[in-house]
Amino acid sequence: MFPDLTRDDVFRLETRRLWLRWPCAADAAAIVALAGDRAVSEMTARIPHPLDRTTVDGFIVKARWSNTEGRSLVMGIAPRGKPQSLIGIVGIEPDPGEAGPHLGYWLGTPHWGNGLVTEAVAAMVEAYFAYTPGRVLTSAARIENAASRRVLQKCGFAHTGAALAPFPARGGDLPVDRFRLDRRAWERRHERQGPDLVAVHA
Ligand SMILES: CC(C)(COP(=O)(O)OP(=O)(O)OC[C@H]1O[C@@H](n2cnc3c(N)ncnc32)[C@H](O)[C@@H]1OP(=O)(O)O)[C@@H](O)C(=O)NCCC(=O)NCCS
Repeated sequence: MFPDLTRDDVFRLETRRLWLRWPCAADAAAIVALAGDRAVSEMTARIPHPLDRTTVDGFIVKARWSNTEGRSLVMGIAPRGKPQSLIGIVGIEPDPGEAGPHLGYWLGTPHWGNGLVTEAVAAMVEAYFAYTPGRVLTSAARIENAASRRVLQKCGFAHTGAALAPFPARGGDLPVDRFRLDRRAWERRHERQGPDLVAVHA
């Protein structure tokens, strides 16, 4: 799905306030602490609670391997002034059950409410449509997850209906709102609002 450009861990996306860069082994403690918070994990399909170090180490290895193969682009979110300090994750991964690749994200609770995930998602969406031939991106949010719905709407995603989706880490299927963004809609938004990426480093 992703080209050679993104398949090496020197690849970085720069936004106004953030670096988006590959997760690395040194991020494990931050991920355990931040994604280990129930307020974060309970809205996600795959982050178990409690969250242990071994699970996080496995996530990092898998994310880097999948990035290397170009099957996904999973990026750590870090403040621009502190590129080593991971505060969240944003990723685009294949989803066999969906019409197109799936966008997912989380941010540590101390950083909520500052528009950071909207900034990170907008940059990832721009990279996806700029660097892959993909026609559509999908996402979903638990029906009680108003903040996530709002992030997707602010980034141009359209609501396509409600459904049940697998949440293995929550013990079964849960109701979600589904969203999609196609290339045409993204291009219109991009022409209207200008670029979301400050720079790409590779
Ligand atoms: C969802 C999440 C990623 C949002 O991150 P964030 O950086 O705080 O998001 P932003 O600040 O960019 O945008 C949040 C928007 O939701 C709004 N919002 C927040 N809580 C809300 C609520 N309870 N009801 C309605 N809107 C809400 C904010 O006001 C903001 O919209 P605005 O800019 O129009 O004011 C973060 O809360 C999180 O990590 N949650 C747990 C994991 C998760 O839900 N992941 C997504 C799975 S689908």
